[in-house]
Amino acid sequence: MKRISVIIGLCLLFMACGKTSEKTVVQSPDGKISVEFSLQDGAPVYSVQKDGKPIVENSRLGFVLAGEDSLCSHFSLVGTKKDSHDETWQQPWGEEIDVRNHYNELTVQLQETAGLKRLLNITFRAFDDGIGFRYEFPEQENLKEFEIHDELTEFALVNDDSIWSQHLFDRDYEILYHKRLISEVNDTVSTPVTIETADGKYIAIHEAALIDYAKMNLFKKQNSTLKNDLTPWSTGVKVYANAPFVSPWRTIVLADHLNDLVNSRLMLNLNEPSKIADTKWIQPMKYVGIWWGMHMKTMTWTEGAIHGATTANMMRYIDFAAANGIGGVLVEGWNVGWDGYMMDDGSKFKFAQPYPDFDMEKISQYAKEKGVAIISHNETAGAITNYENQLDSAFAFAQKYSIHAIKTGYVNAFLDGKEKHSSQYGVRHYRKVVETAANYQVAIDTHEPVMPTGWQRTYPNLISQEGVRGQEWDAWSADGGNPPEHTTIIPFTRGLAGPIDFTPGTFNFNNPAMPGTRVQTTIAKQLALYVVIYSPVQMASDMIENYAGRPEFEFIRVVPVDWAKTIILDGKIGDYVVTARKDKHSDAWFIGAITGENARDLSLSFSFLEKGQTYIAKFFRDAPGVDWKTNPYPVTIEEQEITAETTLPVHLAASGGAAIWIRKK
Ligand code: NOJ
Repeated sequence: MKRISVIIGLCLLFMACGKTSEKTVVQSPDGKISVEFSLQDGAPVYSVQKDGKPIVENSRLGFVLAGEDSLCSHFSLVGTKKDSHDETWQQPWGEEIDVRNHYNELTVQLQETAGLKRLLNITFRAFDDGIGFRYEFPEQENLKEFEIHDELTEFALVNDDSIWSQHLFDRDYEILYHKRLISEVNDTVSTPVTIETADGKYIAIHEAALIDYAKMNLFKKQNSTLKNDLTPWSTGVKVYANAPFVSPWRTIVLADHLNDLVNSRLMLNLNEPSKIADTKWIQPMKYVGIWWGMHMKTMTWTEGAIHGATTANMMRYIDFAAANGIGGVLVEGWNVGWDGYMMDDGSKFKFAQPYPDFDMEKISQYAKEKGVAIISHNETAGAITNYENQLDSAFAFAQKYSIHAIKTGYVNAFLDGKEKHSSQYGVRHYRKVVETAANYQVAIDTHEPVMPTGWQRTYPNLISQEGVRGQEWDAWSADGGNPPEHTTIIPFTRGLAGPIDFTPGTFNFNNPAMPGTRVQTTIAKQLALYVVIYSPVQMASDMIENYAGRPEFEFIRVVPVDWAKTIILDGKIGDYVVTARKDKHSDAWFIGAITGENARDLSLSFSFLEKGQTYIAKFFRDAPGVDWKTNPYPVTIEEQEITAETTLPVHLAASGGAAIWIRKK
């Protein structure tokens, strides 16, 4: 440890008092963002400016390899390459259809001036919405198989602004975000982090294309400088590599408004195009499931008197889905191995063997007749070798029963008893699951994942991920459930990393089995979450009997999950959000407005609608007198004609919301 600090200290010393080489610059296509690269007495550094103002000051780049061998200084610039790219591609599913991938690129080719004379390239891409850079280790004589013991990448932010971050809890990222000054960060945090600048702009730091590497986390080194802190293997090594080798992209999104932040596609653009030619079998859908009952303790995952996943229950859920236009039914606890869940090592799970009271043949036939998809569940409890040994049989079994989506789970502190979820070991496993699943036309919704990094562009069967404190925390969390502001934060933090399987739609807020917990929202807010939180698979999480006689369930029936366009109309992270999305398959628009613990009066303009067209807007909003603590259930449902010229007041109760369905008249 001590000797590593000496090396790092040496790298720093070079930077502090050495000569600076000439700067090499790449600018975004609109000329507003620029990245400068230079060598400070042989040590590589970069800086970022927007509109002529510095955003990131000279920040360190480089590595420490095995044997405390530094690859961060004594470099000379032996070449540069420039390139540019402009293409528009279409997402098979997403928050919008067309994505423009437009950037200018600079590759700096570095070589050590002495010793092994190793080569290291760094490629920077400047987009109109931010920058990405990655390291490339070319094939070479003196660097073949190697270990990365530290990646020295820093983000020396110019100002000590406010940062929204999540303490590193890489077993599942199920931890709340909070806001503080960058200088107050005294722990390691996981990315994405979102910085709010004093002049009301946003900087989001994350990564793209984490495919065979360790997850990037950040700690504050000094003042407002954040440094990469890769998740290690149990050996302490961060990454095992073989040249040629590339790191993931380090990304910095620069946005003037929340709308630009959410609509940045930089992370997706830095991933490779889809490897799946025919994506028709990857179906965005809403789903209900044999699930909430387990969290409410009225059902069990294991066999027995109150087993949830029985043939009869499944047929009941399929009937409900078919009658309400809900695409799928999730089933948990259908397969053998749950009897030791959370007590043993997970190695008892069998992924192609249903419990005797779950007749897969009959259920699959029934689901097919009713036009409902089955989403089956593969909980591994972190025993990934056990899962990998069965992957082909698990997915072949799914394919045999026309199951095109599987929710995977990794509830455990470690994978295989010793490796972290976000280590290179974990990353390789998650990738293997998605790649193998694609061969069997199975989409994957990972719970307890590694944080997403846009890999769904390459494998669109990675349809959603949890990696957040989801709705289930409201059923059993020792702290009483997700606080009201939680869902006003995650669209602008965790949500930047990709779809969130949050599982909204609970209609009955108390859990008699866990009296101290509850859903801390109103019902109208539950509805609005379908628009505010993006996922191409969205659950209606409650037990289906709780939807009976509830007219507001109509909103869940009609709200789409696949979008042509997304606009953040208004919002402040931690306080409130107003999101509008246009359906991909019709002219309809949907709005979700939510607030945190404070009630709020908004003025809603519909100027994004087509001019000269009259629309019918159906409102599902907090009824008078509603607030989340004392009176959360009443919803006012009313219709009104609107046009692009209409502006309407909307009242949101404390932790309340409004969901609006807008159709052409
Ligand atoms: C945690 C998941 O998030 C939840 O959805 C699932 O029901 C349990 N694990 C059991 O696997």
